[in-house]
Amino acid sequence: MDEPIKIIHFSDTHITPRSQFMVQDFNNTVNSINSTPHDLAIFTGDLTQDGLIEEFELASKMRKKIISPKMYWIIGNHDSRSGGFEVWEKMIGPREFHDYTNDILFIGLDSCIPDRDGGRFGREALDYTKKILSKYSDAKLKLVGFHHHLLPIPKTGRERSNAIDAGNMLSILLDNGIDAVFTGHKHHPNVYKVEDTIIISAGSSSSYKTRSGGKRSFNYVEITPEKEIKVKIQDTTGEEIKTELKTITRRFRMVDSTGGKWLRMAQLSGTDFGASSKDQSELFKKGMELVESTNPDVIIHCGNLTEKGRSADYEVAVQAFAPYSDKLIFCPGPNDLRGYGETLLHKYFDTEDTIEKDESSFYVLNTSAPETEIGVVGRTTQNRLVRYVYHTKMQEKDKFHTVVMHHHLIPIPNTIETSALEDAGDVLRMLTDTEVNLVLSGHLGRAYCTRVEKTAFANCNTISSQKTASIENSFNLIDISTEGAIVVSEILVPSGFRRILGIFPGN
Ligand SMILES: [Fe+2]
Ligand SMILES: [Fe+2]
Repeated sequence: MDEPIKIIHFSDTHITPRSQFMVQDFNNTVNSINSTPHDLAIFTGDLTQDGLIEEFELASKMRKKIISPKMYWIIGNHDSRSGGFEVWEKMIGPREFHDYTNDILFIGLDSCIPDRDGGRFGREALDYTKKILSKYSDAKLKLVGFHHHLLPIPKTGRERSNAIDAGNMLSILLDNGIDAVFTGHKHHPNVYKVEDTIIISAGSSSSYKTRSGGKRSFNYVEITPEKEIKVKIQDTTGEEIKTELKTITRRFRMVDSTGGKWLRMAQLSGTDFGASSKDQSELFKKGMELVESTNPDVIIHCGNLTEKGRSADYEVAVQAFAPYSDKLIFCPGPNDLRGYGETLLHKYFDTEDTIEKDESSFYVLNTSAPETEIGVVGRTTQNRLVRYVYHTKMQEKDKFHTVVMHHHLIPIPNTIETSALEDAGDVLRMLTDTEVNLVLSGHLGRAYCTRVEKTAFANCNTISSQKTASIENSFNLIDISTEGAIVVSEILVPSGFRRILGIFPGN
């Protein structure tokens, strides 16, 4: 690979003889593709509207108009409807495949569940991906494509119909140094850099359904041998809408050793006071001994302080945290708001949403609502936060900015994505655009961290809840260096065993 690779990425054509198919936009896209020199073209699913035979017949004719040196076709949830996945295999090609040519590896996956909008990779596809990636670990360029989005996409309304095991796929892709991931499904173009992997989503080229008044579009992607990735989002006539430039550094530089420790945070969740389990108080005691032994500057509780938000639960919890009150920052979880919990929360805790500590700003963002595990920020709070965070960030560039919330924004391995934040797409975009340094969450009982653009995300396990998804309880220890580097470790309770989850150099 000595020359830049030029890729056409288009998606969600939704071909049908009925009016949902915007035939003029499809023809424009074909003309644009045919007049753009490129090395390969990737289609990321929803070729047809309903997976019907008449639609596949029409699509087969229409796709022949595309002139491309190499094309990869990936199945979407609409193609899988009505048994369409069988027709796909007969008329379009395999649902799962890989190709290794000229040092370039491409893996195409089926992320669909027939007759469901939401997706799932499943154990076999995850194992297949790992197997192929280890076989071709020397490939100079590693590309993967599938239909469902991996990270929440902005401007597409409620976060839904994602792949339930997106966290497992994300960790495989990041661990194996994938250069670029191509997805569709949400009908809105978007590009994110996650650590050293670029995740590219295409809009729809010809469906009646567009999002937030956006144009029908496709992507033109150029990848240089130095791994500079340019994504040009174009309308169907080839007119540029937006261009994003990302660089994959693959730098092995760890944290700069000349920078000393500046701030240490203990991040925990799921203390579960009032729990019926007899082990809760023992685990909490042991957990807090470990927290104390690390001597943190600040203790951040990411929610589910109590089991059911009862008055007695709050009283025990508040008493248990009394010795740490000057260090504690608390953000409620869904359990804390049950029943009368919301009123009790305001009785016991400061509801200020910005806390200044040691030249660092913490923004508490309540994502929990009573009687549901599903999180929401809401448009009003989003607007306030955009104004507030953005304004503060711009004014105070030397400060370290941390957002504390309960629900996670990035899919977590070994969990099922069923109670994500409703407006995760817009919130994630807002936080990464404003370059918040760190986002802390404590949902689903599993520790994980990663970085999207310049923002690090850390989710913690429960410290003393017995309903945790993990085998052992734990909390996270986060060290910020004077250079702005972030080191996230997980400390297991009760063993005290420590493992590093992530190291992110300063921006
Ligand atoms: Fe679609
Ligand atoms: Fe779709």
